[in-house]
Amino acid sequence: MNILCCIVILMVTFDKSVTCFEQLARHNISLNNRQRTSKFLFDTIFRISSGVSSAFGLADTEDDGEYSENNSLSTCDCDCGFSNEENRIVGGKPTGINQYPWMARIIYDGKFHCGGSLLTKDYVISAAHCIKKLRRSKIRIIFGDHDQHITSESQAIQRAVTAVIKHKNFDPDTYNNDIALLRLRKPILFSKIIKPVCLPRYNYDPAGRIGTVVGWGRTAEGGELPSIVNQVKVPIMSLAECRTQKYKSTRITSTMLCAGRPQMDSCQGDSGGPLLLSNGVKYFIVGIVSWGVGCGREGYPGVYTRISKFIPWIKANLENTCLCS
Ligand code: ARG
Repeated sequence: MNILCCIVILMVTFDKSVTCFEQLARHNISLNNRQRTSKFLFDTIFRISSGVSSAFGLADTEDDGEYSENNSLSTCDCDCGFSNEENRIVGGKPTGINQYPWMARIIYDGKFHCGGSLLTKDYVISAAHCIKKLRRSKIRIIFGDHDQHITSESQAIQRAVTAVIKHKNFDPDTYNNDIALLRLRKPILFSKIIKPVCLPRYNYDPAGRIGTVVGWGRTAEGGELPSIVNQVKVPIMSLAECRTQKYKSTRITSTMLCAGRPQMDSCQGDSGGPLLLSNGVKYFIVGIVSWGVGCGREGYPGVYTRISKFIPWIKANLENTCLCS
């Protein structure tokens, strides 16, 4: 059974505390089932010209009172977190085509490197350990992709990066503060297949909920990298519960989050990708795939960057862009 096997989107209901909700419009994608033959080539990727969502100055939500405002960050009239729903049943399958339209593949020197998530038209969020020691000029990010070896099924686009913002307290030994932002050279024009994910409220604790991890990582410990993006549903633990697992309890800091159960985990190659939570309408990124011992091992859940602890950091580091609501 695949470690990062697929499971469908369970409609998890969030607390009322989650910031953005309430639109019942579901965006459905009409799947393109054309023969999938052509090899994926970067230079043949179709590029969509840049577009900017119009910004309007909505007041920010209650969670912003605890830290200073970033004046170059506004809210724009776009939606975050809408997936392209698939009518799949729970159990061991890849995601639907562009089901999670914020999924980004970070390519380094022409090779798959890590996952990431589109946060605004200009920024991708990923793990600091993914981008440490990388040369910015060799990074490319691909959006709207599904099967990394096939071009015909969706119109993927590629972007270069103009800034790599790694958390300055990222610790490569403990993976504490494993978070980074990448600024895209040209903004993304959102489309059916490329949309941003929502951020949770500052300090929101997803303990006890069922999240979904999505990525192109190995489907078994020491196994192969799949060509299609996979997803798996993982139970999210409380910090206290995580500290009773087989990891040394001090390794699990309050800015980390544990999720998974035996055989249900992220794995190498999933790093930087999102741990998602749905409120039944929209998806929120509550974690970033960070580390773990092996994959899917009993007592060793996947460890994620706890996004809700980094909302101030994220907002302070996003420049001249706007968040969708
Ligand atoms: N550090 C890994 C990567 O770079 C992610 C490992 C996640 N491991 C886990 N058991 N959940 O891809």
